[in-house]
Amino acid sequence: MDLTNTVAIVTGASRGIGLALSRQLVDAGAHVAGFARSGDDLARVAETLGDRFEPVVCDVTDAAATKEAVDGVAERHGRLDVLVNNAGLGRFDDVDALEVDEWDVQIDTNLSGVFHCTRAAVPYMKAQGERRAKDETAGFVVNVASIAGLVGNPKLSAYNATKFGLRGFSDSIMKELRPHGIKVSCLYPGSVDTGFGADAGHSANPNAMSPESIAAAILHVLEAPHGTLISEVVLRPMVGRK
Ligand SMILES: NC(=O)c1ccc[n+]([C@@H]2O[C@H](COP(=O)([O-])OP(=O)(O)OC[C@H]3O[C@@H](n4cnc5c(N)ncnc54)[C@H](OP(=O)(O)O)[C@@H]3O)[C@@H](O)[C@H]2O)c1
Repeated sequence: MDLTNTVAIVTGASRGIGLALSRQLVDAGAHVAGFARSGDDLARVAETLGDRFEPVVCDVTDAAATKEAVDGVAERHGRLDVLVNNAGLGRFDDVDALEVDEWDVQIDTNLSGVFHCTRAAVPYMKAQGERRAKDETAGFVVNVASIAGLVGNPKLSAYNATKFGLRGFSDSIMKELRPHGIKVSCLYPGSVDTGFGADAGHSANPNAMSPESIAAAILHVLEAPHGTLISEVVLRPMVGRK
């Protein structure tokens, strides 16, 4: 897909991978609607990325608010080409120490949040599929899972459950939406150098990948020719055990 003048929604755009990706999409000529809960953080991103970055305060755990936010972007621009489901968090602890609300917030954000965004975005992409040429991509959904969606780890039970679940969700909708000209890709990064690990209660990995390298992989996936669907990508640090 040629990203010039496309409209992309990136969830979790205020920090980490989502911020790096928003910057690279803007540099590639896309208009980015960046979703996050903190309006102050998004405003700071908008100051550095300029007019092609549109801050949208949206908590993806809220289905109604998410639909309203996605509808707003698609209707303001008259198109919606890319949805990157990136917002996510981890709460790592022994299974018998994990609080119910820590389980719930991971399921609600990492799994239900992806569903809320996707169900709101897909109708616009299907409608584009009706209008666009058969060799033109109608829409693109990219899901940022984790290597924790492929292998289990002690203390990551809830997080592993969300990311394994996201793999199943992605594989299902990839097959369901391909006939509509809509591509679905799922990424499985290992450790990335963002604030995520500290928030999750994890010690820093000195070999972690940069958020820019994950963003570059997503750009590569998006820019592949229409006839080629890169449906899954695993990204690992060069030094590591997994
Ligand atoms: N860092 C890693 O090692 C790593 C490895 C593999 C996969 N991942 C995955 O990559 C994705 C991004 O991680 P990251 O490392 O960039 O994390 P991060 O730096 O902590 O950023 C998380 C982003 O998600 C947003 N967010 C959190 N909850 C949200 C909600 N309910 N609604 C909307 N936005 C929300 C945050 O903004 P607000 O707090 O303002 O909402 C922030 O912009 C996550 O899905 C994570 O699971 C990370």
